[in-house]
Amino acid sequence: MIPYEKLNKIAYGGDYNPEQWPEEIWEEDMRLFALAGIDIVTLNVFSWAALQPDEAHYDFSKLDKIMEFVKKNNLKVCMATATGAHPAWMAKKYPDILRVDFEGRKRKFGFRHNSCPSSHTYRKYAPMLAGKIAERYKDYDNIVMWHISNEFGGECYCENCEKEFRVWLQKRYGTLDALNTAWNTAFWGHTFYAWDEIVVPDMRSEHFEVERTVFQGISLDYRRFMSDAMLDCYILEYDAIKKWIPDAAITTNLMGFYKPLDYFKWAKYLDFASWDNYPRSGASYANIAMSHDLMRGIKQGEPFALMEQTPSVTNWHPYNALKRPGEMRLLSYQAVAHGADTVMFFQMRRSIGACEKYHGAVIDHVGTENTRVFRELTELGKELEVIGSRTFGKKTDAKVAIVMDWDNWWAIEYSAGPSDDLKYRTELERYYETLRNMNYDVDIISPEDNLEQYQLVIAPVWYMVKGEDDEKVRSFVKNGGRFLTTFFSGFVQENDLVTIGGYPGKLRDILGIWVEEEDALPPEKTNSFMYKGTQYPATLLCDLMHLEGAKQVDEAGYEDDFYKGMPVLTVNELGEGKAYYVGTASNEAFYRTFLADICSEAGISPVLVTPDGVEVTSREDAKERLIFLLNHNDKEATVTLPFAAEDIIAKQEYEAGDLVLAAKDVKILAIK
Ligand code: GLA
Ligand code: ZN
Repeated sequence: MIPYEKLNKIAYGGDYNPEQWPEEIWEEDMRLFALAGIDIVTLNVFSWAALQPDEAHYDFSKLDKIMEFVKKNNLKVCMATATGAHPAWMAKKYPDILRVDFEGRKRKFGFRHNSCPSSHTYRKYAPMLAGKIAERYKDYDNIVMWHISNEFGGECYCENCEKEFRVWLQKRYGTLDALNTAWNTAFWGHTFYAWDEIVVPDMRSEHFEVERTVFQGISLDYRRFMSDAMLDCYILEYDAIKKWIPDAAITTNLMGFYKPLDYFKWAKYLDFASWDNYPRSGASYANIAMSHDLMRGIKQGEPFALMEQTPSVTNWHPYNALKRPGEMRLLSYQAVAHGADTVMFFQMRRSIGACEKYHGAVIDHVGTENTRVFRELTELGKELEVIGSRTFGKKTDAKVAIVMDWDNWWAIEYSAGPSDDLKYRTELERYYETLRNMNYDVDIISPEDNLEQYQLVIAPVWYMVKGEDDEKVRSFVKNGGRFLTTFFSGFVQENDLVTIGGYPGKLRDILGIWVEEEDALPPEKTNSFMYKGTQYPATLLCDLMHLEGAKQVDEAGYEDDFYKGMPVLTVNELGEGKAYYVGTASNEAFYRTFLADICSEAGISPVLVTPDGVEVTSREDAKERLIFLLNHNDKEATVTLPFAAEDIIAKQEYEAGDLVLAAKDVKILAIK
């Protein structure tokens, strides 16, 4: 959980690197932080080289000074362990810490997020440093949270990883026979007779592109192994901190829909989730919301920390557009609206050298408070003061869940066929964004999570059905739940081996259909179908299915091609519930109509009905319910409130009736 006992309001601040600046400037930083209402700094993110100048020595003198200084200035600290980039001397002395890339090239020293997760050097010295920092600063009660390393990620294909991969495989499969079966190695004569015959799947072996492999089983397991290997490194540091500070609140900054790491698995080892929100410019609000909801979902709905965002501009997108006036505030509140209880930035003072010198900051190169960005930050700082701890611990009571699963993501996109254009995230977006745009609160859950609290569970392209997960859905539906899945579902089990006997495999009886074939449509081609008197496009994939107890929902099936007349949408009544199947991909107009129909039949309502571009979410606890109104439009919008409410920022009461929101404005309303 977020360490609420150590916070009196939404924490406001972010990455602060005073070590990059002469000490004379620190006082000025403090003056400006106070003006903007900054109350937390994340320290020490990339300080390994400074803290450990050589193998035998540690030097905490600078960090000691910084800690005393920020404490004296009443700042809270998010303390990082500094292991996001290893020192140059370490790479020179112990080259095993350097990664090998996908092409098999050994990296030289440089960059960051650069340590091999299987390196003995890294696994020894990273937790050692984390432990030393914890031991040294354990009595600072202004350290409110711990931040391990930074944005874990990437991958390594070195010999140590290869060896560790074999160990991981032995744990997973026990015997080579089991492994040969799981990977179907009889194909292309891949049978393994000894563990050390197994090599890493990269461009030297099974791949012909980063995302294209000829042996899905091997490549999929390597992804699982890499995610686990990095998680092990995280856990080593976590344990090193807990040894000194058992009640430390520890996290690492995640990256939303980050493909290489299975965050559902990681989340079990995070005291609370935190993440860095850097949407590409032009991203829809629903798209950003989906990442927030994933970050809330990995901890089963617990509020999370917004660890980083830019106050104004990034440096690493192709076109680094400025956040427009009001946009920083709007996106900050959007995070809170979806469950964040901190609003933090990268970075506090804009650096003068290297690749982040043009990345936005609280304090710009001009060095004063007289900037647009600083003024906007100051306004937000004041508001957060007013809001105080009012959002703390409040959760979203969603009745709809969307299932997301890293194994599925990896397996679908490694799959050779049926379509290069089939992207897991896009399929999730079709459902999530449509619901979001209609103001339904949605949880994003893992197939391992409980389904009981939901009335509608949507699992877009649930390609890989692992273990007994189908049984969970079966009983959810029998007990009155509504379940929806789509084309390319139920094809394989956890090792990516096809479940034979007809698609969608283990989901066939739940859905009451048999999918005989799937037709991939090139981008320029569409089929079509009618639903409620309107014609909609069928794109990407078209399932050719037969009814086995399910009823056809569309009016006349596909309208074109040799499968004209075959059903597109079906519903199967099973026990008290219903299972829907959507056999193709369509447009937002279709998803809006279809999902609104399913929701209304299931008795699920949107939080509020509003004009387009006005997002509404809710968070609540036993005492009160907060409704967040976010006007993402460039013009004002009128929302009709069906209830009286208190505006917790403006400290004002509203009667039921029309409420006008200015362009980009936000209101947080409390209803008892
Ligand atoms: C990431 C990192 C930061 C910084 C920002 C810049 O989120 O964690 O160190 O590089 O990106 O956008
Ligand atoms: Zn490695």
